Amino acid sequence: MSKPIVIAIDGPSGAGKGAVTHSLAIKTGFHILDSGALYRLVGLAARRDGIDLDREEHIADVAAHLEVAFLPASSGPEPFQVLLRGQEVTDEIRTDAAGVDASRVASMPSVRDGLAQLQRAFRKAPGLIADGRDMGTVIFTDAAVKIFLTASAEVRAERRYKQLKNKGMDVSLAALLESIRERDARDASRLVAPLKPAEDAIILDSSALSLDAVHEAVWEVVEQNVSLGANSFAE
Ligand code: C5P
Repeated sequence: MSKPIVIAIDGPSGAGKGAVTHSLAIKTGFHILDSGALYRLVGLAARRDGIDLDREEHIADVAAHLEVAFLPASSGPEPFQVLLRGQEVTDEIRTDAAGVDASRVASMPSVRDGLAQLQRAFRKAPGLIADGRDMGTVIFTDAAVKIFLTASAEVRAERRYKQLKNKGMDVSLAALLESIRERDARDASRLVAPLKPAEDAIILDSSALSLDAVHEAVWEVVEQNVSLGANSFAE
């Protein structure tokens, strides 16, 4: 029995994966997996439990028992309302500090293992758009199409700056650029599931593109590689 289609969208933070994933999900009617949110949630849960972020065995335990829910949001820029242990944390997990915590816990092999099954459970008919760093290389190696969306660190910092400012958050562009560079270095150099394109990924650099142009380019790749009329509805 064939499995539902997966479209993997990987790349560094701020490359536009979230917006692209959201628009693809609307166009296709597929489900969404925001895998970065899961690492952010593990970091937040560990902080709330007072666990030192260097204690891998304790954090792995948090990951393996993560109690989360993604509820469709009725308004606002986020597609979901995110709940951790029944409590809303949608904005709390989007801060830059939460991203840095996420990248720390994401470098731990047992934390990644603990989240693998949860991520694969998002694969449901009619299909899944999976957003992350290792969707095409580790979690869904059989994805129908793998896109690696990237952009220069400067462009990504600027986009993130505007995004956070729009949410009313007080941020500094220089600090964001530094934290993006630090996060890129950590994500790309870690031993497990480092940030890199899958061998069969299509690489799109969005640095010089408007958001509309990025959406168009991604949609073109999807249409060329995925037979959307022939979705599998069987698991
Ligand atoms: O995508 P987002 O910025 O929310 O991800 C936060 C962090 O989670 C990333 O910097 C990365 O370290 C980690 N991550 C990961 N693997 C994924 C998704 C996110 O290691 N599939």
